[in-house]
Amino acid sequence: MNYNNKTNGMKAAVLTEYNKVEWLDVKKPTCKPGEVLIEVTYGCICGSDQHIHKGEFHPRTKTPMIMGHEFGGLVVEVANGVEGWAVGDKVAPDPIIWCGKCPACLKGHYPACTSLKLIGIDSDGGFAQFISLPPSMLYKVPANIPDEHVALVEVLSIGCHAKNRANVKEGDTIVIWGSGKVGLCILEAVRTVTDNTVFMVDILESRLAIGPKYYKNVIAINASKENPVERIKAETEGKGVDIAFEAVGHAHDIDGLINPVRGCIQSVCGGGTVCVLGLGNEPAPIVFKELIWKEAKIVSSRVSHGEFAEAIEHLKNGRFKPEALISQILHGSQTQRGFEILDENPAENIKILLDFRSDGMN
Ligand SMILES: NC(=O)c1ccc[n+]([C@@H]2O[C@H](COP(=O)([O-])OP(=O)(O)OC[C@H]3O[C@@H](n4cnc5c(N)ncnc54)[C@H](O)[C@@H]3O)[C@@H](O)[C@H]2O)c1
Ligand SMILES: [Zn+2]
Ligand SMILES: [Zn+2]
Repeated sequence: MNYNNKTNGMKAAVLTEYNKVEWLDVKKPTCKPGEVLIEVTYGCICGSDQHIHKGEFHPRTKTPMIMGHEFGGLVVEVANGVEGWAVGDKVAPDPIIWCGKCPACLKGHYPACTSLKLIGIDSDGGFAQFISLPPSMLYKVPANIPDEHVALVEVLSIGCHAKNRANVKEGDTIVIWGSGKVGLCILEAVRTVTDNTVFMVDILESRLAIGPKYYKNVIAINASKENPVERIKAETEGKGVDIAFEAVGHAHDIDGLINPVRGCIQSVCGGGTVCVLGLGNEPAPIVFKELIWKEAKIVSSRVSHGEFAEAIEHLKNGRFKPEALISQILHGSQTQRGFEILDENPAENIKILLDFRSDGMN
């Protein structure tokens, strides 16, 4: 990729050095053989992008690069011989590339691929006006789903995958520890299955306000003000919830309060399930007796495995409330500002969308 090419055009948000995204003229990709050329409509900044931006994924990521693994677009060109796609189709690209050869892939357990790669992390991504991709990475999106919501399909698919890994069933009671980007997507996903009580645990009131604002029967618990396990027990006649999701990502004690994974274990009922998603590096102290006495199980959930289709279906049938996730929309040229806003004010921002449509504003 030529990252500074004024003649052959498109604009892209290029991470030219860590902590610095510039809106540059770059070479517009051609529609490669066997691929379709996509005009990107909206992208979405992910927590991983924030780490990449700061250089924390180095040397897996290098500069200059075009980030962006959460985005949607419109097909503008289809290579000869590519079936099933037409100019004007709305599309959500699944950024994950599995190797297909490692032991996990051979078992069909693709999210555990030992050399799993993502466009926008391991290669140039979608924070640009155009990208050429193979149809195997693409999901078709009904025309009536707004472009802004197409950019959320990737993160919503993570919520769907977690819901499926935990095997959430109708009538299940739930706790979601962490009411951030991932926790709220899990809320969206579990609400497609169960109308029963969902407890959302966090330490920020602004984030705790979102779940009950958009969904009925959501009880927000501020872990820095009350003991979530005691509250959950009190609200469930001492039983606990059927399923607990951990979507915090660290095991720090807050004023001596319980760490999230242990809190999840203590919150589930006998035979319950704890599903962990947080990717913190430090060990999370747990007492196995608390798990074993309940014959509860812990499952983990990584990225998604085909849940793009499910996420698109729920957007289509109105079962998701994507507006709950969108904090603000900036133009693609303001991508650097988007990262600064997320650093300056994480409490008030869930998803920042970036508008890459090439109709005049660049
Ligand atoms: N497994 C996966 O597929 C997957 C995918 C994406 C992200 N992740 C990981 O999930 C975790 C959450 O990601 P995110 O993007 O939602 O982050 P986020 O920062 O948006 O959300 C985390 C939330 O946890 C809250 N929190 C912090 N400490 C807490 C505590 N002690 N108790 C209760 N709440 C607390 C924060 O206030 C915040 O609202 C991260 O570790 C991330 O790396 C996992
Ligand atoms: Zn992401
Ligand atoms: Zn593999």
